[in-house]
Amino acid sequence: AEAKVYRASTTAPVNIAVVKYWGKRDAKLNLPTNSSLSVTLSQADLRTLTTASCSSSYSATEDSLILNGSPSDITGARTQACFRALRSRRSALEAADASLPKLSAMPLRIVSENNFPTAAGLASSAAGFAALVRAVANLYELPDSPAELSLIARQGSGSACRSLFGGYVAWRMGDKEDGSDSLADLVAEASHWPEMRALILVASAAKKGVSSTSGMQQTVATSGLFKQRITEVVPKNMELMEKAVQAKDFASFAEVTMRDSNSFHATCADTYPPIFYMNDVSRAAVRAVEKINEAAGQTIAAYTFDAGPNCVVYYLEKDEAAVVGTFYKVLGSEVGGWKESAAAHATDISVE
Ligand code: PMV
Repeated sequence: AEAKVYRASTTAPVNIAVVKYWGKRDAKLNLPTNSSLSVTLSQADLRTLTTASCSSSYSATEDSLILNGSPSDITGARTQACFRALRSRRSALEAADASLPKLSAMPLRIVSENNFPTAAGLASSAAGFAALVRAVANLYELPDSPAELSLIARQGSGSACRSLFGGYVAWRMGDKEDGSDSLADLVAEASHWPEMRALILVASAAKKGVSSTSGMQQTVATSGLFKQRITEVVPKNMELMEKAVQAKDFASFAEVTMRDSNSFHATCADTYPPIFYMNDVSRAAVRAVEKINEAAGQTIAAYTFDAGPNCVVYYLEKDEAAVVGTFYKVLGSEVGGWKESAAAHATDISVE
């Protein structure tokens, strides 16, 4: 008889930080220099779909990953750390119960697909590692909670730990050397503030110039502003942001979001030599958001930028016409250079 193939599938959402993770205190374990907070976007729009399988009949003895149809390198230390952690948890279950099949000894095949451009600064690594970890955890029937799985996903890509939850999610930096307290924590379910929307403006779907790992390393090593960011700016922003989310205070949510994005990009500009993720097109989007808020007489839109030129604009459903309508009107004129793309549309915030 042919050996059984064991299989499990899952999806994981993209998250976009409103208080940014930027800086590692331990590069091997992906431990951050500061806590961060993100909003999880709807899986209907942006998500990774991953299937994990294993079988003693698989001819290749090595684990493998197919990403968007092409074989992908999994020999990197971070991916290996995820596989190792998942296997060791499965081994523990098998050691405690001899009737369980020995899945931990079988090669793993992972097949993963994004429905958006990979590595374009659209947080593909976050959804990717979160989906990989959850798919294998499901395959191995691990009893671990989302917070426990976030510890494993964090080792793949820091921001991935936040994609184990929907809604408003904090990554608590922790202070333990082994990283056992550096994990994701649900601040509020998406249903707490379901009017939140995000508009994604794709300036470029090309791969980003300076990887987040390298950018963080250079910033930590050379920026003077960075020290103030991690000791003063971020702790204050985390406190204000959690309060804004709890109180559903959009004006405060928006101000902290924009200030924190500006602060993060300022530390990049203060890096020596400087790193520029935002470009002229990005800055045009900042001005458009300022105009929208001026015209409304209150803050109804907030921009934020990750390690690339693309812009995410947060707003509330009631202001959709004013925000999205205005953006589409200026697309191609004042906000020249923005490409209308599959990802450039309003998306709901997901509930897991
Ligand atoms: O998880 P990484 O290593 O891709 O780093 C993500 C860094 C930012 O996207 C810029 C900020 C964040 O908190 O997601």
